[in-house]
Amino acid sequence: MSAALELTNVDAGYGQFMALRNVSIRVEPGEAVALVGANGVGKTTVARVASGLVRPTAGRVVANGRDLTGRAPHAFVRAGIAHAPEGRSVFATLTVEENLRLSFRRHFGARGVERALTSAFERFPVLAGRREVLAGQLSGGQQRMLSIARVVVESPAVLIADELSLGLAPIVVTEIADQLRRLREAGTALLIVEQQLGHALALADRAVLLERGSVAWEGPSAEAGDHVIARTFVRSRNGGTDASVRSDGDAGGSTRE
Ligand SMILES: Nc1ncnc2c1ncn2[C@@H]1O[C@H](COP(=O)(O)OP(=O)(O)OP(=O)(O)O)[C@@H](O)[C@H]1O
Ligand SMILES: [Mg+2]
Repeated sequence: MSAALELTNVDAGYGQFMALRNVSIRVEPGEAVALVGANGVGKTTVARVASGLVRPTAGRVVANGRDLTGRAPHAFVRAGIAHAPEGRSVFATLTVEENLRLSFRRHFGARGVERALTSAFERFPVLAGRREVLAGQLSGGQQRMLSIARVVVESPAVLIADELSLGLAPIVVTEIADQLRRLREAGTALLIVEQQLGHALALADRAVLLERGSVAWEGPSAEAGDHVIARTFVRSRNGGTDASVRSDGDAGGSTRE
């Protein structure tokens, strides 16, 4: 069976800087994969390669049997790959509805907008109730919902979610995790980039650990445990993105190698 998304021996970077080296990641249809690793190891770059925003300098990107290597981002969208990018990706001075219309028009053309809008409001009732509100006035969690709603029209084959929980209160993180779980139940495969390992691993079947631009470990998320947690956080900066580790073991790295 073809993978929903497959990166094979990918090198990629920015100018002379090589951010990814020989990265291979496979996401099966309907599967959830957590992509974890310390700050700056290349997780977001993987997300960008997997959605066509960064072109690999070597290797291939294939979705559902279709070779997308070197194609433009809209070809990735057509192949069923949705990407909720890192950071606040909504237009603060436009309303919720305007934000949605803008992305739907870009992705589906003028004729697809109304249908996409109806489906988005069905799927995200919170947003339906706030359609006239400026996106900048939404809470952080609602803004993240809007970033997901902008890209997940009609159950995409794969959703790449980059740090959706960053800076959100635990209860909102749980809400977002529930939303991802529902998408998955509807058949969408997930590639979840997360610092909040507990949630990501709870959702995911498999975990892939990146270290300095390469895959350092991969396996069932149930086995990720201390191994991944120690290697992810021991080397990460003490930044604002505190890891809330909810699985067994502590983030202090008792199994440090
Ligand atoms: N637009 C860019 N231009 C140049 N270098 C970049 C760019 N984006 C990322 N990099 C560099 O590429 C490397 C990988 O960055 P990337 O954003 O993929 O890491 P990350 O794992 O997502 O980190 P974080 O956990 O902090 O989000 C880093 O060294 C970063 O400085
Ligand atoms: Mg990142």
